[in-house]
Amino acid sequence: MVATLIMNSCLVFTATLFIILFLFYNRNDAVLLLPAINLHAAAAAPLSSRYNVTKHNIMRIEQELGEAREAIRRAIKRRNFTISSETEDFVPRGCVYRNAYSFHQSHKEMLKIFKVWTYKEGEPPLAHDGPMSSIYGIDGHFMTEIENNLSPFSAQNPDEAHVFMLPLSITNIVRYLYDPLITYSRDQLMRVTIDYTNIIAHKYTYWNRSKGADHFLASCHDWAPDISRENSGKEVFKNLIRVLCNANTSEGFDPTKDVSMPEMNLRGYKLSSTIPSQHPNNRSILAFFAGGEHGMIRKTLLKHWKGKDKEIQVHEYLPKNLDYFNIMGKTKFCLCPSGYEVASPRIVEAINAGCVPVVVSDNYQLPFSDVLDWSKFSLHIPSKRISEIKTILKSVPHAKYLKLYKRVLKVQRHFVLNPPAKPFDVFHMILHSIWLRRLNIRLPVS
Ligand SMILES: *[C@@H]1O[C@H](CO)[C@@H](O)[C@H](O)[C@H]1NC(C)=O
Ligand SMILES: *[C@@H]1O[C@H](CO)[C@@H](O)[C@H](O)[C@H]1NC(C)=O
Ligand SMILES: *[C@@H]1O[C@H](CO)[C@@H](O)[C@H](O)[C@H]1NC(C)=O
Ligand SMILES: *[C@@H]1O[C@H](CO)[C@@H](O)[C@H](O)[C@H]1NC(C)=O
Ligand SMILES: *[C@@H]1O[C@H](CO)[C@@H](O)[C@H](O)[C@H]1NC(C)=O
Repeated sequence: MVATLIMNSCLVFTATLFIILFLFYNRNDAVLLLPAINLHAAAAAPLSSRYNVTKHNIMRIEQELGEAREAIRRAIKRRNFTISSETEDFVPRGCVYRNAYSFHQSHKEMLKIFKVWTYKEGEPPLAHDGPMSSIYGIDGHFMTEIENNLSPFSAQNPDEAHVFMLPLSITNIVRYLYDPLITYSRDQLMRVTIDYTNIIAHKYTYWNRSKGADHFLASCHDWAPDISRENSGKEVFKNLIRVLCNANTSEGFDPTKDVSMPEMNLRGYKLSSTIPSQHPNNRSILAFFAGGEHGMIRKTLLKHWKGKDKEIQVHEYLPKNLDYFNIMGKTKFCLCPSGYEVASPRIVEAINAGCVPVVVSDNYQLPFSDVLDWSKFSLHIPSKRISEIKTILKSVPHAKYLKLYKRVLKVQRHFVLNPPAKPFDVFHMILHSIWLRRLNIRLPVS
């Protein structure tokens, strides 16, 4: 009996998977999919006294999520927005979104109900802390925002939470436990994260009920994916929602379960100030890149283009008299090659500077890809075509460039970090990615 129940809930589990993400990915086929699966089956079952408190809570939560899914589907079917003019000053519209209706409704449902519980165990600096500046700075800002008791997303108790955060800082673990850095072995990192997870899995019932599928851990650090590298980590974290900047799909990043978070270099400019951005007619530089020879892709880029061409300005180190952000503001296409790892902070910098990002990468899952259609406001060049960069960029007609440029301006708000967070900003976008993955699973009521 128990086995059947588990089997059934597994079926629901896998059947539910892909549904919401699929709706997001497929603008046109969405309606066809609607009758496929009766998502309400479990949630609508009558509450009877034989359910105790835990079961009751799970059912309530699943019911809420079921209603949110239904509202999203209705919005897709209706192909219209339900706008409450007093409270909404932004409505996502246009082709930069894979499906503006589902995104609008989904973001709204998230604001309405989504609650995150953060475990209290652990102490700073390894937990409840994180860098606030430099390329991993998004870690600290995300943690601060989630842990803020005043946040509308903060659960008052774990029983009302839809997802649970493991408040570990991979960046701080690496910084403090690997000092001095004499080994690149991930043993210590694995030990701390697995120990922490075992503690909360023993102490509370939440982890075990989905084997971690409604739990997440967020980190921009290059090493973060390695928590699930060895066998023990693979086992413990196989369901965990990993929120990573290093979203390398050939290294186990799973776009249906994991979340790609943008890397932002929080040093080059103030959080709220805008980068000087020129009108497109005033952008005299075709392409620009400046950065160290980190990793194979950049090596190839520098080899082909460094100091070779006036229109393709590729520098290893920018001359002191030149200002990085000023140049971005005067450039049409900003080259954003992967470095030692797939993510590049230049993507967000380019977007903020109104410069069309040219993502030079292989196997990189771009942030918010289930909501944003990157092909509408960026270009992608695989590493094997680096030598053709000039030909590719020269062949973009001016009218197409202007479209790309205008759409870059449209998505800017999704890459802005506001402390405290505002709807549709980068924090909300990351949280929305987590929300979508949570919508894709259903806790078994066993
Ligand atoms: C609810 O059920 C769980 C296991 O299914 C049990 O451990 C717990 O003690 C029960 N709680 C109450 C309040 O009956
Ligand atoms: C969409 O909704 C608006 C009000 O929000 C309404 O005026 C309009 O007629 C609707 N369009 C369609 C096609 O249903
Ligand atoms: C969760 O599962 C583990 C391994 O099966 C077990 O050791 C632990 O006691 C369980 N936790 C709870 C709270 O029941
Ligand atoms: C172009 O740049 C020049 C010099 O920086 C400035 O005076 C002019 O207003 C700019 N034109 C537009 C259309 O932004
Ligand atoms: C992505 O992962 C693959 C497989 O491990 C690796 O070969 C590649 O170098 C990684 N990409 C980057 C940019 O690090």
